[in-house]
Amino acid sequence: MQLTVVGTGYVGLVTGTCFAEMGHHVTCVDIDANKVAQLEQGIIPIHEPGLESLVKANHAEGRLKFTTSLADAMRDSNIYFIAVGTPPGEDGSADLQHVIGVAKEIGKNLTDYAVVVDKSTVPVGTADKVREAIAGELGIRGVGVPFDVVSNPEFLKEGAAIEDFMKPDRIVIGAESDKAAELMGRLYAPFNRSYDRTIFMGIRDAEMTKYAANAMLATKISFINEIATLCDLLDVDVENVRRGIGSDQRIGFHFIYPGCGYGGSCFPKDVKALVHTAESNHFQPTLLHAVEARNQAQRRILFDKIVMRFGADLKGTIFAVWGLALKPGTDDMREASADVLIRMLIEAGAKVRAYDPVAMEVARDLFPADWLKDGRLSLVDHQYAALEGVDALALVTEWKPFRSPDFIAMKKLMARPLIFDGRNQYHPPEVVEAGFEYFGIGRRG
Ligand SMILES: NC(=O)c1ccc[n+]([C@@H]2O[C@H](COP(=O)([O-])OP(=O)(O)OC[C@H]3O[C@@H](n4cnc5c(N)ncnc54)[C@H](O)[C@@H]3O)[C@@H](O)[C@H]2O)c1
Repeated sequence: MQLTVVGTGYVGLVTGTCFAEMGHHVTCVDIDANKVAQLEQGIIPIHEPGLESLVKANHAEGRLKFTTSLADAMRDSNIYFIAVGTPPGEDGSADLQHVIGVAKEIGKNLTDYAVVVDKSTVPVGTADKVREAIAGELGIRGVGVPFDVVSNPEFLKEGAAIEDFMKPDRIVIGAESDKAAELMGRLYAPFNRSYDRTIFMGIRDAEMTKYAANAMLATKISFINEIATLCDLLDVDVENVRRGIGSDQRIGFHFIYPGCGYGGSCFPKDVKALVHTAESNHFQPTLLHAVEARNQAQRRILFDKIVMRFGADLKGTIFAVWGLALKPGTDDMREASADVLIRMLIEAGAKVRAYDPVAMEVARDLFPADWLKDGRLSLVDHQYAALEGVDALALVTEWKPFRSPDFIAMKKLMARPLIFDGRNQYHPPEVVEAGFEYFGIGRRG
């Protein structure tokens, strides 16, 4: 089948590439001409395991194309995925300007029946707005081309995006016409070989499903973080509590790891957008407010622990930060915990030496250039180089190379042997035996 994916970011590029890998012919469209030119040359703008080889192979075989022209792409296909960003507006609502902009563009160029698929995460009722935007443009043109709008939210995780797209837990399709549902079913058939993972539902139900999924996951994270804070006060090791509750099959181990709060481009904005949806419908979502409040506190927990140990004035201190990406497997630093910590440390007078296996380039663009110039922030090229002369190490992202470090070598490099373990990666007795002071989340050495 021939399809167009509009927006070649995380979701659009993975979606287009995986459909192409299954034999479909895909044109990916983006307004960022530089990104499109890079992709044409096989340069992948994001770090995502397995993505580069798939993009190159499918591009070489002519199943995956890149362009800045939606009008050109539309000529070859009758399924148009909208996968552009939906950032938070000032009031927390999802900003739909890019989605509606694409819908209008589709309306300007539509000539034959097509299915327009909302892949971006969008609030309940957005499909109606997309439909109105397309119909409005058709009206201006004075033509009556039939089309359907479908909601097909994406559940992939950065760092495991290819695996998630190829073998999804479920494929949610909100469709209200048999023709559109049948077309979507055929499109996803290659992903359903072992068993059918598709769940068909109403469009509004599908839109809500995505927000409910992210809100549930954010709730689990905030829940365990709240328990971890209580464990800190009561001298309880939250890691034992985590294992004790995770082994209950009704609870499970997923998303109950204590840490420095959830970040990234999805959970914070999606929880906020759901709160906004609730409040615009005159409903106070007390649980979601609590989830957010816990997360706000959690995002600064490592800094608070550092201040408790060192005092509020950090002038003259140097901290190593291991892990900058919002999670392992990606170079995405959108709303990353390391970003929050580094800014707070530097604003309190400290210097920072930071290392990440893949996010160094992204970090270089993210932080103020004068911090890098005057040495307040040093981005170093090895995890051990980050430790030279520092007063403490803060571990923020749980990349595998940080899991089992050489504590003896670390102690020799550091000015003071202190570890703030923002992901509870280390076994406190081992760290203490190696001569370190240890501070975890909901556990101490
Ligand atoms: N990143 C994730 O892990 C993830 C997972 C599931 C769902 N989502 C949702 O998917 C959507 C996209 O997220 P993302 O992370 O891929 O965003 P992104 O910022 O990485 O990519 C968006 C892309 O859209 C392009 N774009 C913007 N306006 C355009 C237009 N008019 N025409 C063509 N291209 C345009 C941008 O240039 C950019 O390349 C969001 O709604 C997000 O919430 C993201």
